[in-house]
Amino acid sequence: MRVGLLTGGGDCPGLNAVIRALTKSLIHQCQAEVLGIEDGFAGLMDMRTRRLDWKAVSGILATGGTILGTSNRCNPMQTQETSDRALANAAALGLDALVVVGGDGSMAIADGLAQQGLSVVGVPKTIDNDIAGCERSFGFDTAVAIVTEALERVQTTGQSHGRVMIVECMGRYAGWVALQAGIAGAADLILLPEIDYALEAVVRVCHEREQLQRFSVICIGEGAKERGAAPSVAQRVCDSPDPVRLGGIAHRLRDQLQPRLRSEVRSTVLGHVQRGGPPTANDRVLATQFGNMAARLVQDGNFGRMVTLAGGQIGSVALHSVAGHNRLLVADDALLRTARQIGIYFGDEA
Ligand code: F6P
Repeated sequence: MRVGLLTGGGDCPGLNAVIRALTKSLIHQCQAEVLGIEDGFAGLMDMRTRRLDWKAVSGILATGGTILGTSNRCNPMQTQETSDRALANAAALGLDALVVVGGDGSMAIADGLAQQGLSVVGVPKTIDNDIAGCERSFGFDTAVAIVTEALERVQTTGQSHGRVMIVECMGRYAGWVALQAGIAGAADLILLPEIDYALEAVVRVCHEREQLQRFSVICIGEGAKERGAAPSVAQRVCDSPDPVRLGGIAHRLRDQLQPRLRSEVRSTVLGHVQRGGPPTANDRVLATQFGNMAARLVQDGNFGRMVTLAGGQIGSVALHSVAGHNRLLVADDALLRTARQIGIYFGDEA
């Protein structure tokens, strides 16, 4: 059996752990040949591959990024001609199965290829933790740890100077990273993409804290926005399947808060530090479980499925049930409730 493997979309910590676990499982369980496809779907379109054997995947468990490279600019489902080419290339490479490790965009492409007859298995990855049907994706725990540390660091400097410190984290339109890191990093206010904030509510909390304590820490998700306003867009990229790059809401909020507060207001945008470097131990374990489950689905001929974690169990769901959907925070989320009950503000309080 020959199995192709590619990593698509933005990278995240734990991708190499999946590559390693999938390859080792397939070699160990059924002596399969694993073909690594370079730079995501771009490598499938121009047949750039490399053999992945035991040695090629040794020593990569704790390494950030992806040894195969990735790309979020290539969508083989764009036209009939490109999807035909992807299928023809998979056949020419002699692939019995293709494993796609990626985010929501890659899962939608994987579903499209599966519907055209390719034997595909999907493995969800994203620091955003927003893939439908999967309660935790690897990369998330690492990102939360990095943002938590950043919040702790800005807190001590904010405290020294009596400042309002705003830290912007990634997550696109989902607030999972902001919520968990905000709680773990003792933020006073957490502003989430799912809950539009009222500027006056944020000002009031900062005022109250000026009386109570010399500083405030605000953790804001990049997709958060003021009531009635649009999200802050850092850049538009027309040749990408993901044409909107969010970013800059922390600076916008700083400019709005500064004239209304006595304290100095400073903003930090964390950016790609949240996605680089080694995965946490939890992410290494989860990525290993996901890679192994993908190998099992391939061996069982269980195609058109995406590996998942649901109810604490590793399993799988139909790719078409997750393609095109995102998992966002809901108003009655238990963790959100806990945060409110201990006095963390979300900017929507009357
Ligand atoms: O989806 C993962 C993610 O890291 C988002 O949190 C962020 O908005 C986006 O990717 C950034 O993508 P890029 O690296 O292409 O700028």
